[in-house]
Order: sequence, then structure tokens, then C-alpha cells
Amino acid sequence: HKHNDAFPNNFLWGSASAAYQIEGGWNEEGKGPSVWDHFTRIPGNTFKGTNGDVAVDHYHHYKEDVALMAEMGLKAYRFSIAWSRIFPDGNGALNEQGIQFYERLIDELLGHEIEPIVTLYHWDLPQALQDQYGGWESRQIIEDFNRYCVTLFERFKDKVKYWVTLNEQNVFIRLGYEEAKHPPGVTDRKRMYEANHIANLANAKAIASFREIVPDGKIGPSFAYGPAYPYSNDPGDVLAAENAEEYLNGWWLDVYCDGEYPKTIWKYLEQRGLSPTLEEGDTALLKSGKPDFLGVNYYQTGTFAESPLNDVFQSSKENHDGKKGQFKESGIAGLFKRKRNNTLETTDWDWEIDPIGLRIGLRRITSRYRLPVMVTENGLGAFDKLEKNNVVQDDYRIDYIRQHIEQLQAAITDGVDLIGYCTWSFTDLLSWLNGYQKRYGFIYVDRDETDEKDLRRVKKKSFDWYRTVIATNGGNL
Ligand code: BG6
Repeated sequence: HKHNDAFPNNFLWGSASAAYQIEGGWNEEGKGPSVWDHFTRIPGNTFKGTNGDVAVDHYHHYKEDVALMAEMGLKAYRFSIAWSRIFPDGNGALNEQGIQFYERLIDELLGHEIEPIVTLYHWDLPQALQDQYGGWESRQIIEDFNRYCVTLFERFKDKVKYWVTLNEQNVFIRLGYEEAKHPPGVTDRKRMYEANHIANLANAKAIASFREIVPDGKIGPSFAYGPAYPYSNDPGDVLAAENAEEYLNGWWLDVYCDGEYPKTIWKYLEQRGLSPTLEEGDTALLKSGKPDFLGVNYYQTGTFAESPLNDVFQSSKENHDGKKGQFKESGIAGLFKRKRNNTLETTDWDWEIDPIGLRIGLRRITSRYRLPVMVTENGLGAFDKLEKNNVVQDDYRIDYIRQHIEQLQAAITDGVDLIGYCTWSFTDLLSWLNGYQKRYGFIYVDRDETDEKDLRRVKKKSFDWYRTVIATNGGNL
């Protein structure tokens, strides 16, 4: 590693989670229902009908979980706040008990010198707002989201310095309004682009408020970034990859960082009557809410080939059961189609494993936006096996994370301003659609889809490995 720059001394070695996936306590101490509490109850929506009613019961195990983080030496922990714990009906009365749960969690973290990174929105919209006005489809949500954020900024401004606004807006919008795999289960691209624009405005407004209330804090959205590759050196494929980069990534990233949509895709959507309604003042608002850093959730790249206008894509079912070989071409006729990248291995759920893609993505962001980056998620979902004597030998996870950290170091050497790295996830947790069998954690949680068992926490082999990585500031991989 002679030619590699070291990780900075204050580098945030972290791990991440989301409220719905870990907390449980879905209706405790005044919490209102979220769209996920509703959506998971509709048969067929999730693997074996799993939901987050109990999840891994972090709501009651948070002290034990934070103690394990401390034992590992974690420098930062990214978690999300459930909006409907704070405002059970989204925009009505404040639920003090809900806010106190997070205060206890934050104090517990600070007591162990773990930096809290708070995600304001990780997909669990209060169901009441979906019912009242269609959630992200109404501009009323800009005000309501702002009120919720301002409440938290004011309450925690002295304790929390790192904030994430929206988690993976590109994912919750596309799966929610284009593919109907997430709530509200819509397939309508016109509505999708309108809702997405409103989410952009809500994001910008929350950031603008943050500047006033927490001037010394740092805030940004977390984006699910899948850098686009051309399938071949055929210029048609290279153009397709450019299209995909703009359409699937730039459409969000440009707005966050510059307050403007990419021109080519705007034109493309406008010609088809799909571009969102820009009202007076929108662009000014977008430009007033620029982030301090970009959160990047990185799992894989995408490889794209030219797509003729008469291509037909069938919506693929989510691969719930972890069987390999279910890859289906997807795309936008005339723009691009996604192909399997045959140079890459895949995970149990058919996700392509591409550590170098992380370096490429971080460099693209640095060149295009010149912002610091925090990797807010990266990790391996796999079947783990709890063996006798509480052993889980997840060497494949160690390999996966090691290779990605090596690329982080290369990216730092390239000049990327990287402030932290949060693995997904700390404990095992509920996968939104894939139940409990798809595990990501350093800590095994003993439960499955049908049986909550004792929810016992068991350190996997990767726990000790990541502890050493942190203790040596990335020197010992
Ligand atoms: C990200 C989300 O999209 O990917 C996480 O922010 C999610 O919440 C993670 O769990 C892994 O996805 P999955 O489908 O494997 O659970």
C-alpha cells in the first residue's frame, strides 16, 4: 500500500440501519402507522409476508446493540428516525415519547463516543399523510416534512452533527411509482416524476432550514448510486451508458448539487409529456438547498447496451428467494437496456459484486460535483449459517468489505474527499422485501420469517475483523 494515501485520522468508520428494518415496537408509545406497516400487510408484497412489527426488536435492545458497537470500536452509527413516532399522524401533535426514544439512543451513542448520523427519512412515511393527500404527490408534504425536520434539528442540534435528508429518493420513488414494488404501489411515470420533483423540493427546503438552525452541522441526501458502464466499445452502447448515467443517476444528483435537471433527459421527458411541473420559485428553492456532502449507498454498477425503439421490457418480479440466475433485462426502449456484466461475480441475490465500481463512482461524483462524499451504505446480503457454539463464519462478507475498503483507499489517493464509510448493516435486520434470510450484519440475530425465537445477538467472524480495521484506521485489512 506504499502508494496509497492513508485514511484521514477522523475518518468515520461506521455502520448503518433504518428504523423500520430494526426497531419493531411498531405501535408502541404513541407511534402511528407508516406506509410500510400498511403495505406489508397486503398478501404477496413481501417474502413470506414478513413485516417490521417486531423486526430485530432494537426498540427494546438498543442498549445492548450500542454496547456491541462500542465493543467493536465503531466511530459512527447511521440510523433513521421514524417520522410517525415523532408525529403519529404526520402533521398533527408531537409525540414526546417517540422523540425521547431517539434521545436515549443518541445519548447512549455519545456516551460511548460514537458519532450519530441521523437519517430523517428512510421510507416509512406516516400512513396518515398518504391517506390525507397522497403523500409525496402533494406539495403539502414540503411543509410537513420541513416541520418534522425542524423539530428534530432544534431538539438535537447540540448532539447530532451529521444528518441525512432522504434515503435513496431514486429507489423509493422508482419502486413506489414506476414498479409498484414499494408503497404506494403505483405504476405511472407521470405521477412518478411529479412526486419525485416534490421530494426534491422537500429535500431542498429541509436543507435550507438546517442552515439556519444547525450552522455548524453537515447535511446531505443519501443516493443509491449505480455507476453506468457500456456493455461494449460499440459507440451505440457507449451512448446507451451515457443515457443511463443521466437518466438513472444525474436526474437526481444534478438537482441535489446544482438545483437543475440534466438537460437531455428533461428534453426527452418533456417530448413525452412526462417532465414534472416546475412552478415559480421551484428552481430558486432547489438552488437554496445544496448539500454539504453527498451520501452514497453503493451496492453495484449497471452495464448497458443500446436499445432499439421497439424493445419491450417485462417488469421483473423481485427475486425474493435468493436463487441465482434470475437476471432479466430491463430498460427504456430507445435509451438503454441493462445487461448482465459477465466479468463480475454475483451475490446470492444476483447483485453484481464490483468493488472497482465504487472507486469509479466516487471519482465521477468528485469530478462532476466537487463535494465531499460519505459512503452511507455498502455491504453484502447473504445466507448466513449459525453453527454450533455461536459461530458464524462469514468469510465471504469479510472479503466483500475488504475489497470495497481497498477501493476507498484508492479513491482517497485519487483525490476523493471521503469523510466516512458505513457498512450495511450492524445487526442483521429485515430486508424490505426479502425477509430475514438475507443477512447483512456483523451481528447475527437469531430469528427467521416464521419464528421470532429469542432474538439473541451473536457476533459473526466479520465482527472481529472490522474491529481490527477500525483500530488500525484501515491499515490492517
Ligand atoms: C438499500 C436500502 O437500498 O439497500 C436499505 O437503503 C436496504 O434499506 C439495502 O436494506 C439492501 O436492500 P435489500 O433489498 O437487500 O434489503
